Amino acid sequence: MKGSVGVDSLQGTGSVAHQVERLLVLGGGGHGKVVADVARACGYTLVGFADADLAKLETVVEPGGVHVVVTQDVLLRAVRNAGPLPAGAERVALAVGQNRVRQELAQLLGQICLTALLHPSAVISPSATIGRGSVVLPMAVVNANATIGAAVIVNTAAVVEHDCIIADGVHISPRAVLASGVHVRERSWIGAGATVIQGIQIGADTVIGAGAVIIRNVPDGVTVVGNPGRILVPAAVQPAAS
Ligand SMILES: CC(C)(COP(=O)(O)OP(=O)(O)OC[C@H]1O[C@@H](n2cnc3c(N)ncnc32)[C@H](O)[C@@H]1OP(=O)(O)O)[C@@H](O)C(=O)NCCC(=O)NCCS
Repeated sequence: MKGSVGVDSLQGTGSVAHQVERLLVLGGGGHGKVVADVARACGYTLVGFADADLAKLETVVEPGGVHVVVTQDVLLRAVRNAGPLPAGAERVALAVGQNRVRQELAQLLGQICLTALLHPSAVISPSATIGRGSVVLPMAVVNANATIGAAVIVNTAAVVEHDCIIADGVHISPRAVLASGVHVRERSWIGAGATVIQGIQIGADTVIGAGAVIIRNVPDGVTVVGNPGRILVPAAVQPAAS
């Protein structure tokens, strides 16, 4: 088995090798529930969720599952002080939906952050690399020599074709398809079912709308929708990609 928890990037594997058993999921929202399922499918024991929202403490995130056991602040303090993690956790899985926040948290957590979480049904080339804090959800495909950065979400049934380069903090939504050699820069959000043709460069902090077909390069900080993709929101007025 190539790749295991504790290195900075994981090189392609169909399943996850890990020594760590007790996992805290950071992010008690919808994405957190999905990441919790992936973690269980990979054999981890969940000790609970951490969340930035104090009001969520003790709330149940998933029916019948674990609840929010600690705030993000308390978790980060423990990490800063190199103390024991809350709830007896050994490692943290990142499950925050907002791209910039997730990217920053991956940096703050450092080695505490799980290397990568790959659902057993995902197909991942042995020559692909996947960075720390990234998740690859059920039925996704990451093909040969694809490079996936840190804190990336490759969502359900998304396809990242060969030789793509996906920068830190990117979210590739369900069923999006990135053809070969596509380069997506930091924190961009590729909407559900979008298609990006081969060799396209997508800038940082962009939003590609659901179902868009991208046939030309996309600059930083814009929202693009439609087939063929057209700029809906120029960079000057774009809010942060979620
Ligand atoms: C692109 C997107 C972010 C725009 O959201 P928004 O800023 O709230 O945009 P609005 O809903 O106000 O729509 C503005 C205009 O763009 C059009 N539009 C919005 N999204 C579109 C899309 N995906 N494709 C085509 N047109 C779209 C609307 O029809 C509207 O056109 P109009 O002004 O002629 O009526 C959003 O529609 C989208 O596609 N999000 C992706 C969702 C997704 O993939 N989620 C997966 C999560 S895992």
